[in-house]
Amino acid sequence: MREALIRCDRTPAWAALRALYAANGRTFDLREAFAANPRRFTDFSQDAPHLFADLSKNLIDAQTQTLLLKLALQCGLEGHRDAMFAGEKINSTENRAAMHFLLRNPASAHAGRAPAAPENIANELARMHETLNAMLAYAEQVRQDAAMTDIVNIGIGGSDLGPQMAVLALDEFRLSGKRIHFVSNIDGQELAAVLAQLKPQNTLFLIASKTFTTTETMTNAGSAKHWFEAQGGTDIARHFAALTTNVAAANDFGISTTFGFWDWVGGRYSLWSAIGLPLAIAIGAQGFRDFLGGAHAMDDHFRSAPLAQNLPVRLGLLDVWYRNFHGFTSRSIAPYSSALRRLPAYLQQLEMESNGKRVDADGQVLPFATAPVLWGEPGTNGQHAYFQMLHQGTEVVPVEFVAIKRVARSLPGHHNKLLANVLAQAQALMQGKDDVGGHKHFTGNRPSTFLLLEALTPASLGALIALQEHRVFVSGAIWGINSFDQWGVELGKVLASDIEQRLQSGDAVGLDASTAGLLQRLQLS
Ligand code: F6P
Repeated sequence: MREALIRCDRTPAWAALRALYAANGRTFDLREAFAANPRRFTDFSQDAPHLFADLSKNLIDAQTQTLLLKLALQCGLEGHRDAMFAGEKINSTENRAAMHFLLRNPASAHAGRAPAAPENIANELARMHETLNAMLAYAEQVRQDAAMTDIVNIGIGGSDLGPQMAVLALDEFRLSGKRIHFVSNIDGQELAAVLAQLKPQNTLFLIASKTFTTTETMTNAGSAKHWFEAQGGTDIARHFAALTTNVAAANDFGISTTFGFWDWVGGRYSLWSAIGLPLAIAIGAQGFRDFLGGAHAMDDHFRSAPLAQNLPVRLGLLDVWYRNFHGFTSRSIAPYSSALRRLPAYLQQLEMESNGKRVDADGQVLPFATAPVLWGEPGTNGQHAYFQMLHQGTEVVPVEFVAIKRVARSLPGHHNKLLANVLAQAQALMQGKDDVGGHKHFTGNRPSTFLLLEALTPASLGALIALQEHRVFVSGAIWGINSFDQWGVELGKVLASDIEQRLQSGDAVGLDASTAGLLQRLQLS
């Protein structure tokens, strides 16, 4: 359990940050800061495993950073981090540990620094490696099975976004001859469109669901099985596999090929578990191990780097600075890479399902803002859509650029233009432009972070994702939130099951007038 610590807004550091913001934070000017400090780029940038981060175009100076680090100490960030790595049940509302980091821990390495529950962790690590080995052996078997040309992942949320994002990101490493499809929506048009391209004898369905109860996934899985059998398919053991913590439910469904994981893996943190099987099939066992290795390197960095040089800590604290002191309501993610086109969707779940909460871990209402809205599209596309607002709108939106230095599969001249654009956008946001006419005036001083990967590889993608997981942990820890539950998605699920019946029966009794009116209009008969 989390130690009862002083709430962030009651710490001396919070008061000092408020005073600093009032005194000069509000009027801080990036251009002046660069002019005043020729070392600003070096002072506010750093290397971290597999990537480089430039934080210098953010609205901070040395004093702000010092106070933010004090805030982290006064809120007990290190203790909370160590509790996670020690396998303590930091997901208090579900009485569970949050040990996704263990999934990328090499079998030999010592799992936790803190003394608590080492035996528990060692046991989990052994079980986890047994499953990982079995899953990777299966992935290799599927890769060598020339008849299996189409792999269909059926899952939603964390059982879809992570593997989908990663399979697209690492397409360059994908075994040719394997098509990997992702079906998540309960809208039957999505599954129907995929099924229309398939032959049962060439298809492997992966039913990905932590709980094996999610309506969308169960409905799609049922329809896929029905289609398979209607097409004359019989060998369910060969053509269906389940990736789940609920192996019994998968067996009841009729699936005997299963790869498990555990309740200490949250859905949005499950890409590293059996849920990563589509990625393992795409890039192979060694590629998947490299992916885990990149994330593990970032885990080590988060666990051991001094806070001032700890990238997840610095990013998470910046998030707090912008959300609670500047009052910025959103953050835009701009990966300048078509391969990373699903990264924004993936990060939306990570940030907003983890920290989109108005109460602390004890259920007490928080008097300050928490998770920002996270949104974005790949560059340069976003430039021709909403960057207008980022440059000249009334809201300031911190932008997080992701750029990749070397790409293998681009065409002559393209990558240089892509990189020129990402640099130019960050520069324009900061520098702005004076114009007397008004419409052509850019205020500038708009903050951005720049994450630079040497190349997009399994290892660097693993590190990038683990970085994002930990930065969300950091802001959640400062706010005192339980970042590992998601009660907010339950109410809609319960109401949908009631309304599903009512759509059949037409019974609107007890419904509010709007829902009743819409129900009537949606009645088919
Ligand atoms: O409804 C939200 C959620 O529980 C997510 O947290 C999760 O990733 C998703 O649904 C899918 O859940 P499952 O993997 O159990 O099907």
